[in-house]
Amino acid sequence: MQLTVNGKVREVDVPDDVPLLWVLREELGLTGTRFGCGRALCGACTVHVDGKAKRSCVTPVGAVVGHEVTTIEGLAGDDGLHVVQDAWIAEGVPQCGYCQGGQIMAAAALLRVKRAPTDQEIDAVMGASICRCGTYQRIRKAIHRAAGSDAK
Ligand code: FES
Ligand code: FES
Repeated sequence: MQLTVNGKVREVDVPDDVPLLWVLREELGLTGTRFGCGRALCGACTVHVDGKAKRSCVTPVGAVVGHEVTTIEGLAGDDGLHVVQDAWIAEGVPQCGYCQGGQIMAAAALLRVKRAPTDQEIDAVMGASICRCGTYQRIRKAIHRAAGSDAK
C-alpha cells in the first residue's frame, strides 16, 4: 500500500490491520514516534493524520491510506523548527525525553484548533499525554509561549 508520510509517498508491504506505529518505526525507520502503552492511554505514539492528533498504536495502517501522516520528524518546515519545538527548547521542557515527541505533536494539534488555549484547555488535552517525569508545568508554559499568550 502507499502511504503519505511527512510529505513523501512511501510504499509498504504490510497487512491493513498492522498498527501505524509499527509501520512508522519498523518499516519506515521513523523512531521518534514512541511505544508507551499500546492501548491509546499514554500519548507517546501521537502523530498527525490530516493535521489532527492520532494515537498511532491503535490506528490500523489501512485507515491512513489517502491521508497525510506527519510524525515528529516531519513537523519542522523548510524554514526551521515548528513554533512548538522552539518553545519546547526555550522552556527546557524535556527531562528523559521519552514522551516528548508525542507531547509536541499533541500540542501542535491543539494550537491548530485553539490559537491561545487557557490553562484549563491545555490541561484538558495534554492531561491525556502521560509524562513519567512530570514535565506538565513546563509543557503548559511552552504552549503559552508558542501561542504568544500571556495567560497563566
Ligand atoms: S503507545 Fe499509543 S497511547 Fe500509549
Ligand atoms: S520527559 Fe520523561 S517521560 Fe516525559
